[in-house]
Amino acid sequence: MESKPKLVVIGIAGGSGSGKSTFADLVLANLDDADLAVIRHDAYYRPLDHLSLAERKKVNFDHPDSLDTDRLIRDLSTLRSGQAVDIPEYDFNQYTRKSTVQRLELPSVLIVEGILIFGEARLRELLDMKVFIDTDDDDRLIRRLRRDISERGRTLEEVLHQYQTTVKPMHLEFVEPSKRWADIIIPHGGRNKVGLDLISRKLHMLLKRDYPEELHV
Ligand code: CTP
Repeated sequence: MESKPKLVVIGIAGGSGSGKSTFADLVLANLDDADLAVIRHDAYYRPLDHLSLAERKKVNFDHPDSLDTDRLIRDLSTLRSGQAVDIPEYDFNQYTRKSTVQRLELPSVLIVEGILIFGEARLRELLDMKVFIDTDDDDRLIRRLRRDISERGRTLEEVLHQYQTTVKPMHLEFVEPSKRWADIIIPHGGRNKVGLDLISRKLHMLLKRDYPEELHV
């Protein structure tokens, strides 16, 4: 019997609204029959049930401390050891974690996606390939405005206030500098055809196990 290939983990980082989810979803669509899963760092935002909704809205969600990255690192290590994990679920409308979890069995390829995933050395070490989606700031703000108003229950004023007070300064302090850790930088957002083709083909090769374990470089 053929043994299951070793887990391959691809990290996709980039600023808020850069198109990470779009990119990950399109890679999944290109490999629709494949044994592939996505974990979003967003799922690991810390629970804020002890705060009122008004207080939760004031939290800086773009600072690394707002996320339980230790739990993500533990879950990735567990998957690497061959076991399934329970991924937390997050509710953006309530600004806190849901009480439910999602069971994730060991896939062959795992995409880990988030604005801050390249900033933590222990997390970087668990990523076999690091891709940074590099999108112009104005395009990111436009995407964020549309999404936060239509999907995350925010007002125009709330989105702009949050962008200026936390999203932009934290992007400059933590997200943009983390680009230095990327293996591949993909410009123009999540629909970059050449970038999608490159990563999808690479994963296709890995899944077919038609690729050398050790590269000569
Ligand atoms: N965030 C928020 N409210 C919360 C928790 C997080 O507004 N309660 C915001 C943070 O401000 C952070 C953003 O969620 O900037 C992270 O999600 P983002 O990267 O924008 O979304 P993705 O869909 O993961 O990525 P992309 O837009 O690139 O597809």
